[in-house]
Amino acid sequence: MTRPNGSFGVDIIGSGSGLPDTRLTNADLEKVMDTSDEWITKRTGIKERRKADIANGELSSTLAIKALNAALEDAGITKDDLDMILVATMTPDMPTPSVACVVARKIGAGNIAAIDINGACSGFIYTISMANAMIQAGPYKTIAVIGADTLTRYVDYSTEGRTSAILFGDAAAALILRRNDDTSRGLIAHRMHTDGEGSKHLYIPSSEFDIPEDSEYRVEMCNRVQMNGQAVFKFAVSKFQQVIGDTLADAGLTADDVDHFVCHQANSRILDSARDRFGIPSEKLLINIDRYGNTVAASAPLVFTELAKSGRIKPGNKVMFLAFGAGLTWGSSLWQL
Ligand code: ACO
Repeated sequence: MTRPNGSFGVDIIGSGSGLPDTRLTNADLEKVMDTSDEWITKRTGIKERRKADIANGELSSTLAIKALNAALEDAGITKDDLDMILVATMTPDMPTPSVACVVARKIGAGNIAAIDINGACSGFIYTISMANAMIQAGPYKTIAVIGADTLTRYVDYSTEGRTSAILFGDAAAALILRRNDDTSRGLIAHRMHTDGEGSKHLYIPSSEFDIPEDSEYRVEMCNRVQMNGQAVFKFAVSKFQQVIGDTLADAGLTADDVDHFVCHQANSRILDSARDRFGIPSEKLLINIDRYGNTVAASAPLVFTELAKSGRIKPGNKVMFLAFGAGLTWGSSLWQL
C-alpha cells in the first residue's frame, strides 16, 4: 500500500479557502426543526456552519474559484503557472462539465488538464495522493488540488432530516502542489480504502433504483441525504484509528513524529477518539468543526489552510491528512513539508 516518494520531491506552496458568507447557527436550526443547540453541541461539537446561496448562483465552482485564487496568491504564482486542476467534490454544479472544467474556464486557464474526483468526504485525501502520482508521472509540474462541496443543497431542513441536516456546511479549500528536485520533501505514505457493503449507510438516491434492498422507497428520499448516523459513527471511529496506525507503520513513524493530523471534521467525538487512542495533543489535531460543520471534501484542506494562515505549519513539518466518508471510503496522505 505504501508508495515511494518517486523521482521528484513535491512541495505544498500555497493554500486558500472559499467560504459562503451566510452562517447557519444552531439557533437558526432550532427555528425550523425539533433540535437544540445543546443536543447538537454535545453530540457533534458544531455551533454553526456556512450555507451557499445556491438560488443566486453560489455553487461548488464559485467557492472553488475563491479558494483557488486565494491559494494562487498565497503561493505567489498565477493561473498561467498551473498544469492541472483536480477538484474533489460530490456536489458538482451539474453532471457535466466538471467543477474543474468550470473553474478552468472561468479563471481563463486555457487548455489545462482539469477533472473532478468523487470520493465524498475522503475525496480530497484521495486526490492529493493522486496529484503526487501525476507529478511523478510527468509532465505536470504545478497542480491545484481543490476540495469543494455544497452538500446543503441535498439536506432536508425539517425534523425528519435533522440527524444529517445539523452536520453539513458548504466550503472550498485549495492547495497548490509544485514539483521540485529534492526527493526528501513530498508524499511519504498514503492509504486509500473502500467498503461498498457500507454504501447503504450514507447515500443520496436519484430514484427508486438507488435504494438499498432492505430499505423502503419513498419519493421524498430522492436527492436528500440518507444516513444511518450510528453505523457511520462506528465505522468512522474504527477506520480512523486503523488508518492512522497503518500509515504510521508504512512510514516507520510514531504518532509523536507527526506535527499535524489534518483531519476531516465530521464529529468532534470521532476526532477525540483518535486523539485519545494515539495520545495526540490538541495542538497537533486542530478541530474547527464548531465554525464550519462537516464540509465534505473541503474539510481537511480547510483545516490545513487555517493552520498555514496562523503560522502553525512550518517547513520540515510532517503532516497527515485523514478522512472517511460515503462509499464507504477512508484514507490518509502523509507529507514531509
Ligand atoms: N436534534 C435532537 N435530537 C436528535 C437529532 C437532532 N438533530 N438527531 C437525532 N436526534 C435524536 C434521535 O431521534 C434519537 O432519539 P430517540 O433516542 O428518542 O430515538 C436520539 O437523538 C439519538 O439519536 P442517534 O442517531 O442515536 O444519535 P447519535 O448520538 O448517534 O448522534 C450523529 C447522531 C451526530 C449523526 C452521529 O451518529 C454521527 O455523527 N454520526 C456520524 C455521521 C457522519 O460523520 N456522517 C458524515 C460522513 S462524511 C461524508 O462522506 C458525507
